[in-house]
Amino acid sequence: MKPVRKAVFPVAGLGTRFLPATKASPKEMLAVVDKPLIQYAVEEAVAAGMTDLIFVTGRHKRAIEDHFDASPELEAELEAKGKLQLLHVVQNILPSNVNCIFVRQPVALGLGHAVLCARPAVGDEPFAVLLADDLMVGPTPITQQLVRTYLETGSTVLAVQDVPREQTRQYGIVAGPVINDRLSQVTEMVEKPLPEQAPSTLAVAGRYVLTPGVFDLLAKGQRGVGGEIQLTDAIEQLTLTEKVLAHRYEGRRYDCGSKLGLLQASVDLAEHHHEVGQAFSAWLLQRQPLHAKDLGRTLAN
Ligand code: G1P
Repeated sequence: MKPVRKAVFPVAGLGTRFLPATKASPKEMLAVVDKPLIQYAVEEAVAAGMTDLIFVTGRHKRAIEDHFDASPELEAELEAKGKLQLLHVVQNILPSNVNCIFVRQPVALGLGHAVLCARPAVGDEPFAVLLADDLMVGPTPITQQLVRTYLETGSTVLAVQDVPREQTRQYGIVAGPVINDRLSQVTEMVEKPLPEQAPSTLAVAGRYVLTPGVFDLLAKGQRGVGGEIQLTDAIEQLTLTEKVLAHRYEGRRYDCGSKLGLLQASVDLAEHHHEVGQAFSAWLLQRQPLHAKDLGRTLAN
């Protein structure tokens, strides 16, 4: 079985839910405490053994390329000022054995299309897909959990979690026979179904390990929900010819594509941050809520 060495990060989306913060800056560069969302996803992929990171970008995403590139001026300045710990941080964003590849998605035709744009860089190998706006934490990095299942089975593996039925229209929903308490086989998969039409409440989180067989199905260019080429539809077609597994991951997911999720991730991770964790936790316990009248127009649109 081929090892999983390549990770695809679709990062071409507009991030309209965070305007005006994302007017000139990619949503994947929004920070949780002190790291941008894309870096959490990249670190998760690297922890799972990925050595080729393929970013599917669009216009206005230069900041992501810059983030993973060397920054000679900044490094020289930190060195001159003796800020060696920070110098170490900026010089070690990526291990030296990791390659970054940037491909463009010229038109916003959906997640499936973004993954298809990565095909020339992925080739005929299994690969991971990580959606950076899902910040995922666990005792074992979530992508690594999926890779282990892939290595045991050779099958496409999707990270899934149970969601309240009223939320099914936010997710790809899967259904199929249970294999054990972690794994189910996927025989049905629907993108963003209405609660009353959802075949289950098992939702796909933004982590996948896919076999290259999915590319031919994506290349058919079939449009799904929202007129987009949906990754979900191609994976459902894949179930007809290959085994596809849903893996109930062990961990927690923050939907950082929403303001509420970004805030929840920020609070939870800040409490454990090596620098501010203690002080932040203490502050949370004794904080005096701010009254709306004392805020003036700070949060007004
Ligand atoms: C995408 C996928 C969906 C998946 C979700 C996880 O949707 O299309 O199947 O459940 O990510 O976050 P999006 O949230 O990009 O609309």
